[in-house]
Amino acid sequence: MMEPIRIALFASGQGSNFMAIHGRLSSMDDPPARIVLCVSNNPAPGAFEYARDHGIETLRLSPKMFETEEEYGRAGLAMLATRGIDMIVLAGFMRKLPEAVVDACTGRILNIHPALLPKFGGRGMYGHHVHEAVLAAGEGESGVTVHLVDREYDTGPTIAQARVPVLPDDTPETLAARVLALEHRLYPDVVIEQARKLLAERMLPPGGAICQ
Ligand code: GRF
Repeated sequence: MMEPIRIALFASGQGSNFMAIHGRLSSMDDPPARIVLCVSNNPAPGAFEYARDHGIETLRLSPKMFETEEEYGRAGLAMLATRGIDMIVLAGFMRKLPEAVVDACTGRILNIHPALLPKFGGRGMYGHHVHEAVLAAGEGESGVTVHLVDREYDTGPTIAQARVPVLPDDTPETLAARVLALEHRLYPDVVIEQARKLLAERMLPPGGAICQ
């Protein structure tokens, strides 16, 4: 049996997607992946507390900790290499990844966005801003997009989408709750599927990490 894919999960907030993914993987007899590291740019009370409770290493990483993008990139690459990370899963990480990390891990970084990209994505489109914009535009539906990460915000290739209706009396809060519940169903499925794909394609170099 192959070693499970080693995931670094990046979360800046409450970490509910982190919990959903970890919960699903933990419930499997033979999980294709394991979350070995939780990274945040801030103290991420929810995500970090959950990680500590479940024996997952936590690490702070923020561009603010470095003078230059190059230093940020070097620290990011070292973080992946020392832990043998194969795949990065972004779940509410509120900073851009170092470009060097994005370039080294092309095709192995997932992100989730609480709307149907390419609509309602890009810089500044996060949290309640997304749902406010969806309601202001009079959309009849919204949803969730899981996509691969490139150097820009929310522009990488879409892997999966799922939809929810926008109801006439929706507020940003009620819509956000409906979308988040859908995220918790979709994201674990996609992470598992991508991890299985990586294992099946035998993309792991012997004894080493993919992201290098
Ligand atoms: C989610 O809505 C996700 O789509 C977005 O950030 C939020 C993170 O929520 N990228 P949580 O921390 O997983 O609860």
